[in-house]
Amino acid sequence: MQHTRWYKDGVFYQIWPRSFLDGNGDGIGDLWGVCKKLDYLQSLGIDGVWFSPLYPSPGADCGYDIADYMDIAPEYGGMEAFRAVLDGLHRRGMRLIMDLVVNHTSDEHVWFQKSRRRIEPYTDYYIWRPAKPDGSLPNNWDSLFEGKAWAWDDLRQEYYLHLFAVKQPDLNMDNPRVRTEVKKILKFWLDLGVDGFREDVITFISKKPGLPDDRLSPASRGIRHYNHGPRVHEYLQEFRRDVLENYDCVTIAEAPLVSPGRALEYVRESGMNEIDMMIQFQTMCADCLFTDYIPRPFSLRRLKRAFTRWQTALDGQGWNLLYLENHDHPRIISRYGSEQYRVQSGKMLAVSYLFQKGTPFIYQGQELGMTNWRPDSCERYEDVQTRNARRDLPEDKRLALLHRASRDSARTPMQWSDAPNAGFTSGTPWFTVNPNYREINAAAQISDPGSLLNFYRQAIALRKSLAVVRCGSYREYFRASARLYVYARETREQRLLVICSFTEKPVRFHAPAGFSLPDMKLLLSNYPVGRVTGSSFVTQPYETRVYLYE
Ligand code: NOJ
Repeated sequence: MQHTRWYKDGVFYQIWPRSFLDGNGDGIGDLWGVCKKLDYLQSLGIDGVWFSPLYPSPGADCGYDIADYMDIAPEYGGMEAFRAVLDGLHRRGMRLIMDLVVNHTSDEHVWFQKSRRRIEPYTDYYIWRPAKPDGSLPNNWDSLFEGKAWAWDDLRQEYYLHLFAVKQPDLNMDNPRVRTEVKKILKFWLDLGVDGFREDVITFISKKPGLPDDRLSPASRGIRHYNHGPRVHEYLQEFRRDVLENYDCVTIAEAPLVSPGRALEYVRESGMNEIDMMIQFQTMCADCLFTDYIPRPFSLRRLKRAFTRWQTALDGQGWNLLYLENHDHPRIISRYGSEQYRVQSGKMLAVSYLFQKGTPFIYQGQELGMTNWRPDSCERYEDVQTRNARRDLPEDKRLALLHRASRDSARTPMQWSDAPNAGFTSGTPWFTVNPNYREINAAAQISDPGSLLNFYRQAIALRKSLAVVRCGSYREYFRASARLYVYARETREQRLLVICSFTEKPVRFHAPAGFSLPDMKLLLSNYPVGRVTGSSFVTQPYETRVYLYE
């Protein structure tokens, strides 16, 4: 089937279902809730929705530990609600993308239960090893979530590998039967009508033969022996050739520690189409080192380097996925913007990435300017990564770090209104609602023309109306500036100039050579702009402007 690359024209929205909207009053977000908000998504200008896992799961990692790949969890409404959502989206011309989590399963998956008991053909579905002759672990790798990467199984009398939580055993993708299972899963959902997959840590699926010890010191000892492993391309090509090729669908790879050069090995359009877009992490590291748990001061230069590197390296060869938030990171205004200038900085951040080349993703609540949640105790965090993070620190220091780094800040319920529980549920919410919902909520913003929500609507509509945003070249100006991010997009017919100030301080902006502001049309801004008489102005806190030459 022809690969039409329809995703290049779209803007996507990520739903983390547990916290989106509860439709049946049990305190847990569900697909009946999603059904009620399809018009909301459409009015925002959304073309497709990526759902974080909806499958039955014991919830050790909020659904990323899957117990059955071919069903929808009852708490999310089961298959009936799923069909209603799929139908509702398609009727509105929107697409649906599933999360495919096949690096690991839940330990409660029937495959694992049989594998533990050496029941064929499941014996080698997972990565089992005996202890070393001296009784030590099979190798020295660390889990990304909990201690070492090996857990002992009493039934089987062997260790199994878990790169994530103990309850998330890694599948043995070198086993052709496991790959056949993956292909069955892909086919099952595609035949039901879904439009593609976001593939969870897919670059981890091929481990180096022999699982060698890692001589590097922590953090995450072992990662170089399984990230971009020796057979990852072979496996992705197999999935493409045997299944994906027969559908006009999109594939998105989540890829920790990937450079643009490496990404092209997956997404090069002249190649095998292993993957269409990658979720890279470099733009998420402007205030941390590799992970949110190693913080450093925010550096705009670092952010700009990452933006520009991806824009230029993939240009003409691959396609970028653009994002500032998802369920794995704290809220962007609390990181790269300012809670004091929440609305203004939220608008500026939207502009900073929505006019780049690629397909933008918006995470639930980002369009409302939701901010980090700051509980009074570490015990109130739910997430497995957060609960295990930096337990070596004294409580007060640890709490301050979690306030800054925990992905639970992105997982508090959506703030729909100022009604009890932010209108998320009529029952008891499964997780604390951020108390700032009385001020920050969708209902208040829908009717306010100056709101962040309406700004997102405007920016998305603008983006879609301009060919230059889809296909124009990208050029950055004033690279050395630690306060301004300025870029231009250009086709033969149109030139767009995007100005973003990342500071509350006034900065004098001079248009780059070749741009005359009075001759350009102001398309979008987050402050009222009077008549422009010259090509220079002094910025207001977190000011942004988008100008066009036609
Ligand atoms: C990446 C997912 O986005 C994250 O939420 C999850 O915890 C890990 N992969 C493990 O599946």
